[in-house]
Amino acid sequence: MKEIVPPPPPIVRNQFESVRELFTRYVVPSYGRFELAFARGAGCHVWDVNGRRYLDLGGGIAVCALGHAHPEITQALIEQSKQLVHVSNLYYHEPQGRLAERIVKHLAPGKVFFCNSGAEANEGLFKLARKFGHDEGRFEILTAANSFHGRTLAGIAATGQEKVKKGFEPMVAGFRQVPFNDLAAMRDALSPATAAILIEGIQGEGGITPASPEYLLGLRALCDEKKLLLFIDGVQCGHFRTGRFQSFQRILEGVTGAEKFVPDGMSMAKSLGGGFPIGAFWVRDRHADLLGPGTHASTFGGTPLGCAVALKVIEVIERDGLAENARNLGEWLKGELQRLVNRYPSVLRSARGLGFMIGVEIAEKAAIPAFATSDKVAAMQLVNRLHEAGLLTIPSGSQVLRLLPPLNLTRAQAEEGIAILERVVRGLV
Ligand SMILES: Cc1ncc(COP(=O)(O)O)c(C=O)c1O
Repeated sequence: MKEIVPPPPPIVRNQFESVRELFTRYVVPSYGRFELAFARGAGCHVWDVNGRRYLDLGGGIAVCALGHAHPEITQALIEQSKQLVHVSNLYYHEPQGRLAERIVKHLAPGKVFFCNSGAEANEGLFKLARKFGHDEGRFEILTAANSFHGRTLAGIAATGQEKVKKGFEPMVAGFRQVPFNDLAAMRDALSPATAAILIEGIQGEGGITPASPEYLLGLRALCDEKKLLLFIDGVQCGHFRTGRFQSFQRILEGVTGAEKFVPDGMSMAKSLGGGFPIGAFWVRDRHADLLGPGTHASTFGGTPLGCAVALKVIEVIERDGLAENARNLGEWLKGELQRLVNRYPSVLRSARGLGFMIGVEIAEKAAIPAFATSDKVAAMQLVNRLHEAGLLTIPSGSQVLRLLPPLNLTRAQAEEGIAILERVVRGLV
């Protein structure tokens, strides 16, 4: 009898070029990717397909709240997948109700809608605003310059960056951008059609710029006065990254008059599932029933599996004091980055941010001899050099390097990251 021999694997495993070749042939080239392919991770480290180890201070762009391959996430996935993975939103199930309860307890009285991504969470807020203003003919949503709210058609219309809109015009109607942290500009921009204002608590893609306490309080007062909804996009800056559940809670700590501050809606995703795709929006109690039966839906929104994982992520963050870790170690990191700024002012200009959402402003490309002749922006060049040195970070615009590490980063790992960064920066002086 003829022996059946399985065919050889179509790619040689563990080689970067063969992985990239698959992408070149079969994956839509909508991303500018780095020349790295990863095979596994553990805690705050990841290994590429060639077995090289990297410290991950980018956290998958603020997603991997508990790092990589966290055993309790693995366990939650296994246990829930043995029970019930999906049942649809035609029915009730406990994990979705429990997760909504946790979010409401951490935020303020209200209700939660579950979806799959940050863009989809914002879409839900946009629909909420439309419904809210509908009977008065109000539909417009004002957002901020330099903001980022996702890549759907409404997401790019809401986003305050021309580069995401280019080639996709005409934009979805009903969005306008005004300068960030400028209350007077927001007031001036209001029209009779305005229904809502949406801002990020801390602009992430726009270069790590926190909303000021005065701005948040001023927007709340303005929205109350004009009967508008105030939405905060917490997709990147949320989920305990700043030391509190949402960044507005951290920004307003100890600020007089802020005790009762509550937005009307908040979007979240990224860290919510610690790497499992799940998004959500929370809506304040007084508007919580605006989207009634049949008005909004998402097939995969809030599956038993996704919710069980998200519940586990919150449980571990609370049990292990990871919000405090992000707050304290984030302060330490920012202090160390400031030390590097002081020591190497020709390369690094400033360090800013809250908790584990930190931005380092890089000097103009022309001022750094090793960068001057390349057509790549300074942030990209620095990130590339850090890759070569074994450190993952995220560029933000042309001049900012972002650190969005897992919330369980240790002091030793933070020191490892700073040592690598210092070595690379010293080589650029
Ligand atoms: C503030 C903010 N909002 C929305 C999004 C979009 O999220 P997603 O990519 O999950 O759709 C992002 C993604 O980076 C973000 O940073």
